[in-house]
Amino acid sequence: MKGPQQTKGNLLRGRFARARLPEVEAFTASLPFDRRLFRHDIRGSISHVRMLAKVRLISRADAARLEKGLRSVEREIEAGRFHFSVADEDIHMAVERRLGELVGNVASKLHTGRSRNDQVALDLRLFLNEELNTVISATRRLRKNLLEVAQDHLDTVMPGYTHLQRAQPVSLAHHILAYVEMFGRDQERFARAQAAARVMPLGAGALAATTLPIDRGAVARDLGFRAITENSLDAVSDRDFAVEFLAAAALCMVHLSRMCEEIILWSSAEFGFVVLPDEFSSGSSMMPQKKNPDLLELVRAKTGRVLGNLQAMLVVLKGLPLAYNSDLQEDKERVFDTLDTLMPALDLTAKLWPKLRFERQAMRAAAGGWALATDLAEYLVRRGVPFRAAHESVGRLARDAAIDRVEPDKITLDQLKRYSPHFGPEVLAMLSADASIRARNVIGGPGPSAVKRRLARLKKTL
Ligand code: ARG
Repeated sequence: MKGPQQTKGNLLRGRFARARLPEVEAFTASLPFDRRLFRHDIRGSISHVRMLAKVRLISRADAARLEKGLRSVEREIEAGRFHFSVADEDIHMAVERRLGELVGNVASKLHTGRSRNDQVALDLRLFLNEELNTVISATRRLRKNLLEVAQDHLDTVMPGYTHLQRAQPVSLAHHILAYVEMFGRDQERFARAQAAARVMPLGAGALAATTLPIDRGAVARDLGFRAITENSLDAVSDRDFAVEFLAAAALCMVHLSRMCEEIILWSSAEFGFVVLPDEFSSGSSMMPQKKNPDLLELVRAKTGRVLGNLQAMLVVLKGLPLAYNSDLQEDKERVFDTLDTLMPALDLTAKLWPKLRFERQAMRAAAGGWALATDLAEYLVRRGVPFRAAHESVGRLARDAAIDRVEPDKITLDQLKRYSPHFGPEVLAMLSADASIRARNVIGGPGPSAVKRRLARLKKTL
């Protein structure tokens, strides 16, 4: 056997006779993107070092030197003074290498009882936990802005649609609160993803823990985790928490996309329900009159990549044997890209809502006509007519009215009686969109008192 040989500039090359090909290095490195985790990596290392001193695997003095060194590395990265090189492979090695340059030999004690496999799981969990606070606040802010706009539109009458055909009148407030419900569920899903992330994996080592007497609970407490992982193989190969975030984000983007699609439709001349604020619209390079809803279109389009990120992550996981595999390195860009798409989508749509100008007249006009036909059928039901029979009578009435272009506010009791003898004089007061909405105050209905109750309740949850 030959004596010790060092391949210069790499912490791990003891096992190798020749240097790695630069293009292999470039292809396999995660440093270009995982440097985004540097704060979490360093915070995790500091807790690890404190624990090593606590269980006397290193001295208090060494721990202090390491912690001080790690903080210097953090400051260098923050100040943009850190020299990143793909030769370091990833952020974990980059930090450790620089720590060695700053504090000397003691740096070689940092990685005691730890692997990059449990370290990277720790970093990503810390990162997601923190980012999810921001995501949850952004979701809450959007809901708050939606609620405020809804508050102003309790009496704004509009058609509710099914099959994109005018169906029954509702209020704009009721329509807006539908989104508040969706984003409320999204917020709960983000909170559950956060709880999934807050389980501490360090101590799993590469896959099978360590012989050293580490104290995992101490690290978990120091970092604010709610639990520690219970199986070392699972701990290094589990990315469920990332999938849960990606899935929650995918559904939230789907909700944002539907909302944006509606605003796009409503802002068209054909609907004319809403005027987009200039600050949120774009022009056309050729057609001088155009005002385009680009922001909304791009939220709708970028939903595709967030759905793709979930799919990509699931596909990475589906064929993996236990425990750690390098495939898992692909998790980070999926998570980062999702955050970078979701966050501005939440922020910008939240800012947009208070600036939308609704055309109350146009909305009310569209809600008129025979959209209240269902109410008439239900009136007949209250007079003892079986629903299917009532449906047929009012159906004939609506067909004739469409042919003769008779609006509900113009129809007479005599005309109504031709379709059913059960129509009485009190039915005439029901023949407006406002009356129609007022009459539907069941829980979850669009009636103003039902909507006000829900609005007040939702306000309390914010
Ligand atoms: N760069 C790796 C990742 O992002 C860190 C863990 C690498 N572990 C290993 N044995 N190659 O997942």
